[in-house]
Amino acid sequence: MCGIVGYIGPQDAAPIILDGLKRLEYRGYDSAGLAVIQDSAIAVRRDVGKLDNLTRLFQQSPISGQIGVGHTRWATHGEPSARNAHPHISMSGRVVVVHNGIVENYRELKDELIAGGAVFNSDTDTEVIVHLIERYLGCDSSLTEATRLAVQHLRGAHAVVAMSIQEPDRLVTTRIGNAGGVAIGLGDGENFIASDIPAVLGHTRRFIFLESRQIATVTCDGYMIQTLGGEPVLARIASIDWNPMSAELGEYKHFMQKEIFEQARALTDTVRGRIDFETGQVTLTDLKLTAEEAGRINRIVAAACGTSAYSALIGKYLVEELARIPVEVDYASEFRYRDPIIDSDSVVLTITQSGETVDTLAAIEEARLKKARVWSIVNAIGSQAMRLSDGFITMQAGPEIGVASTKAFTTSVMDQVLLALYLGQLRGTLSAADLRRHARDIARLPDIVGRVLEDNARYSELAVGLAGFNNFLYLGRGINYPVALEGALKLKEISYIHAEGYPAGEMKHGPIALINENMPTLAIILRDHVYDKMLSQVEQARARGGIVIAVATEGDTLIAEKADHVLYVPEVPELLSPIVSVIPLQLLAYHIAVRRGADVDKPRNLAKSVTVE
Ligand code: AGP
Repeated sequence: MCGIVGYIGPQDAAPIILDGLKRLEYRGYDSAGLAVIQDSAIAVRRDVGKLDNLTRLFQQSPISGQIGVGHTRWATHGEPSARNAHPHISMSGRVVVVHNGIVENYRELKDELIAGGAVFNSDTDTEVIVHLIERYLGCDSSLTEATRLAVQHLRGAHAVVAMSIQEPDRLVTTRIGNAGGVAIGLGDGENFIASDIPAVLGHTRRFIFLESRQIATVTCDGYMIQTLGGEPVLARIASIDWNPMSAELGEYKHFMQKEIFEQARALTDTVRGRIDFETGQVTLTDLKLTAEEAGRINRIVAAACGTSAYSALIGKYLVEELARIPVEVDYASEFRYRDPIIDSDSVVLTITQSGETVDTLAAIEEARLKKARVWSIVNAIGSQAMRLSDGFITMQAGPEIGVASTKAFTTSVMDQVLLALYLGQLRGTLSAADLRRHARDIARLPDIVGRVLEDNARYSELAVGLAGFNNFLYLGRGINYPVALEGALKLKEISYIHAEGYPAGEMKHGPIALINENMPTLAIILRDHVYDKMLSQVEQARARGGIVIAVATEGDTLIAEKADHVLYVPEVPELLSPIVSVIPLQLLAYHIAVRRGADVDKPRNLAKSVTVE
């Protein structure tokens, strides 16, 4: 997804914008640019490729001004190039725009504008926006009014920031739909605009999050927010307590590595203040749920994408076991188009690290249309999903920068453990003794995760012998079947090795035909109620010459006779085991990808937040 940074204040805007864009690099992009107002004219620098190219161009030919906008582009219309990079400038040179989203009707708008004399300098859809604003500016409108009128022509979801030499004391920004957020950072005598808060978290921790169909006029000492209909809006100011350092690499080589190793601490943060370790009582105030309402819930439909969908599959086991509520899980991209049978007694639970995934947001909108109660498990504070839901549970994982999701997976599973306990507590399916037992188990979990992470060298060694394979099969059963799916996704998305996750019981229905010495099998075989079944799968894979790597429970000597390699993890209650069994799979994927020289944090073709279909 594209990144946006804007600045207005007493400082030189360009260095602040470039630094902010650097902090958004993890979102994936293919070109970048910035513009400032310098000597009453708009000065623009744009380049294709990595941000270093733009920085080099800027250093060779600097521009300076106290108001500016910057953008990292993820091409949708028009190939990655300097001419297609944002910002886009109007014909008169008076207005410049950066944009997130897709102008779905840009073709007809472009034809109409060209017929009216507009000359286009790019192949982008975005350029129609700056021409429309210029057209309305010509009618003596203010930049705010011209922008407000211009965006009413656009179909699709958009985030826009505009700047004009006619009004050099303000930036104008607006949001329509869910093309990524717009955060207004409030400084002291200066203000910021960002598509994501890490871009400017080093300058301020006070933010206003623009809602859909709102427009803001931002000056160095204030702001005015209206609806697109012109109604004034009294916006809530959020204080973000993330430590800017936590969005930095520290002593790690990659953000993914850092975030894998942060999981013990992240899990501690996730449960903090939500469970009484004496009584086992769980409190999830942001769900705004009464016992009576909890008793009325007849089903939960979970909708999510990618890693978050696999987390939801684990949540199904947890909620059905602990709260005895039927749960079905759907990919959000399927849910949004299948006219789901839900009603006011249903809950739609979405899980989304970014809170901006377009399919997941569409699932929320579909659920609201059908009057279902909507809950979100979300990491990004202030994100769309969080604000569009009736209730939410934050992951408390801190910023997740690596494209491959790791701590968001384990903390979202932890959130579903808490949710299942909370629902069981409210519905009476769990006794006080049950709650105390689960609380004791949860209390031990961060330490157990920490012990698995200490074994890092083991994974680095094992990766040497595995990095050369081009196909892997991941097998799991029961609550660890979704962990097999997640392990396969981790490997494929950062190492580009083909990897498939499968329910182990399905082996004989097809996949076993694949097994030979060129197809390693990674089996999750913990001491749980399906251990014997898993052991049989391991033996079947070995019998066909397959290499087997087992994730197993410490003390299990039998598996050591059956598998080629064993990755031991400490004993853990079955319902909590996915939070532990996934760690070896994360580490193995990471080390194999490093061995293969892959771009671990920014894998090809992927973005951290998928905000376009
Ligand atoms: C996870 O490693 C992937 N990067 C991807 O599948 C991700 O989980 C998916 O895009 C959903 O993102 P979200 O949790 O922010 O909605």
